[in-house]
Amino acid sequence: MGRGLDLQAEGVILPAVKAKGRSRKPVLTARTADRHALYEIAVQTPDDEVKFFDRVYRGLNGRMPRVLREDFCATAAISQSWVKRGEDRVAFSIDLDPAPLAWAREKRLAQLTESQRERVHLVEGNVLHPPRIGKVDVVSAGNFSWWVFKERGILREYFAKVRKALAPGGVFVLDLMGGTQSSELLKERRRCAGFTYEWEQHAFNAVTHEFTCFINFLFRDGTRMDRAFRYDWRWWSIPEARELLMEAGFKNATVYWEGDDDKGGGNGMYRPTDKGESCMCHVTYIVAHG
Ligand SMILES: C[S@@+](CC[C@H](N)C(=O)[O-])C[C@H]1O[C@@H](n2cnc3c(N)ncnc32)[C@H](O)[C@@H]1O
Repeated sequence: MGRGLDLQAEGVILPAVKAKGRSRKPVLTARTADRHALYEIAVQTPDDEVKFFDRVYRGLNGRMPRVLREDFCATAAISQSWVKRGEDRVAFSIDLDPAPLAWAREKRLAQLTESQRERVHLVEGNVLHPPRIGKVDVVSAGNFSWWVFKERGILREYFAKVRKALAPGGVFVLDLMGGTQSSELLKERRRCAGFTYEWEQHAFNAVTHEFTCFINFLFRDGTRMDRAFRYDWRWWSIPEARELLMEAGFKNATVYWEGDDDKGGGNGMYRPTDKGESCMCHVTYIVAHG
């Protein structure tokens, strides 16, 4: 799952302990590390996401979007990037869980200017029953969060409510992973600054496609933060999602597929297509509109 942000560069300080001996470099440990900060570093690239939203919206409408609704926002990292890219830009960030919202308020919004802070509205709530905020230009559902809806009817209801929330020209951007490894049971590690991120695909029911995943963090001092995040999802495929988006009333549900870096990875450039090659793992956007 995910991409990765440099929070130290962003000015968010990670709790750390000092290494013994001569090194004065702080050493992260599971005893004190902040799981929300680790998540943002390991998983999120909000500036890239927002640039993608802007590119797609401007391509369709010939102007920049102004109002974002960030569904399943967790720490609202995308909303923060959103408001930084224009003084008229407003973000509504919705999550059920008060913990990441409180963290965002304390650690992230504090880094913004007053004007930017005033334009991020954190909302504790269910995206199935969104607050009355008026129409928005972009709704985003990032890092496969919409997989939390396991029944067709409920997912269609969510998509239909998103469509109703969009202003004319508005777009709904969601992502998902696929590929031959995407529902396999596996643990995949990636080194980040001061810790290792572990993505664990823990259980998959091939009949129902129910899928349980964890994020674990490992530290150089040998400590671990197991199951820092847990996801109980249904693994949905691209065609299922597109069909449900159309059933929910969208006129278009376009797949944006990532280009190759010629080293077996993605290059971060997403282009609209109806053709995707078979591969072990891909993260793909769907942009629904109309
Ligand atoms: C995968 S995480 C968030 C990911 C984040 N959007 C990102 O891009 O990394 C999923 C989040 O969705 C929230 N969530 C789950 N069900 C929800 C619902 N029905 N309404 C609002 N938030 C929900 C959880 O509390 C959790 O913070």
